[in-house]
Amino acid sequence: MSGTLKDIIARTREKVPALGLTMNGQKLVYLDNAATTQKPKQVLDFIQKALTENNANVHRSMYELSDRATTAYEAARKKVCEFINAPSVENIIFTSGTTASINLVADTFCRSLSIGDVILIEADSHHSNIVPWQLAAQRVGAIIKVIPTDIFCGRGKSGRLVVEEVEKLLTDRVKILALTHISNITGLHNPVKEIISVARAKKIPVLVDGAQGVVHSKVDVQAMDCDFYAFSAHKIYGATGVGVLYGKKELLEQLPPYMGGGDMVETVSYEKTTYASLPLKFEAGTPNFIGAASLTPALEFAEYLFSGDVGETLKAEEQKITQYMLDILLRDNDVELYGTPETQNMGKSPIFTFNIKGINAGDIAQLLDKMGIAVRSGMMCAEPLLNSFGATSALRASFAPYNTMEEAEYFVSCLNRARKMLS
Ligand code: ALA
Repeated sequence: MSGTLKDIIARTREKVPALGLTMNGQKLVYLDNAATTQKPKQVLDFIQKALTENNANVHRSMYELSDRATTAYEAARKKVCEFINAPSVENIIFTSGTTASINLVADTFCRSLSIGDVILIEADSHHSNIVPWQLAAQRVGAIIKVIPTDIFCGRGKSGRLVVEEVEKLLTDRVKILALTHISNITGLHNPVKEIISVARAKKIPVLVDGAQGVVHSKVDVQAMDCDFYAFSAHKIYGATGVGVLYGKKELLEQLPPYMGGGDMVETVSYEKTTYASLPLKFEAGTPNFIGAASLTPALEFAEYLFSGDVGETLKAEEQKITQYMLDILLRDNDVELYGTPETQNMGKSPIFTFNIKGINAGDIAQLLDKMGIAVRSGMMCAEPLLNSFGATSALRASFAPYNTMEEAEYFVSCLNRARKMLS
């Protein structure tokens, strides 16, 4: 490791206290970042201070403490707005997570659909970008159709989305298209901008699940031209129980409210209610205002990881780790890797989901845990996609910029030890 790289990695890791933990007597190697990321000290300190010095309900009171809480909450909305280049804070709705953001759109948008209308989703969707659409479709008699991956339609086995099918699938009956920016199984980057431009020509609105996308790529919602973009704070170094829904203003204004309650209203009588303007129209009840406010330091940490010399150094290292992992996993005849970039241009984030022939993924994960390594095993909330690969469960190692090549190498050597123990 070069001096600069070593220093940058050491400085970065020092900022994230959990990376210094030991598990089962071993140094923790945390490789479950696609599920949730570890938190930097600046987020932990912010939450501690907010709970002790700025804790009062937001938007409701005339006293100083409440004003501080409201200011911090609204400052985070501004931070999110800038981070994804939204036109205005009115476009940013705080929710409890990506799942809640997608449910909000699926429920409210689909109320106006009719029998036989089509909701188009992707074969590589997380359950949170499938089930809300199914629930909404069942209510109105709409139909779900699926953009296949190459596995689904027998056109390859990389797990890539078959973009060539999109134009054909976007018929006049399609009323909304729900895309995945980056798959939580394959780590492959979908060409969302190109797909959106096809949908745009047909005036079909598009929601993008950015749960992984916002973590691994620079998101500019205006350049992407999506109508909705959803993500979670906890996957981008922030608090749990907080999500973001970006929406275009004209669409958010057309949608009916999702949940009713305090803060989303203008006037209420027993007979009738008028609603608050954006974004509060969609924020009924006391929000997770401290968690949401902690998006400010969380996104500052993400900016630190992705910009300047630090960003360039960590990006180069991440690419080396990705290549190393691909080389190891692809040359092993007993490994089935789900999500292989077909070309250098096909983006792949450091998310590696795979099985080893004849060995149960859960058993490997348990042995790795004994060696200090945290990886996920199971369905990864993407059962249809995993099934299409012929798997009913898998092992997933997912890296963040604070992970190191040494950790990747340790993972590979422990994986080999675990296989020997289990074969
Ligand atoms: N959606 C998260 C994952 O992929 C929980 O692990």
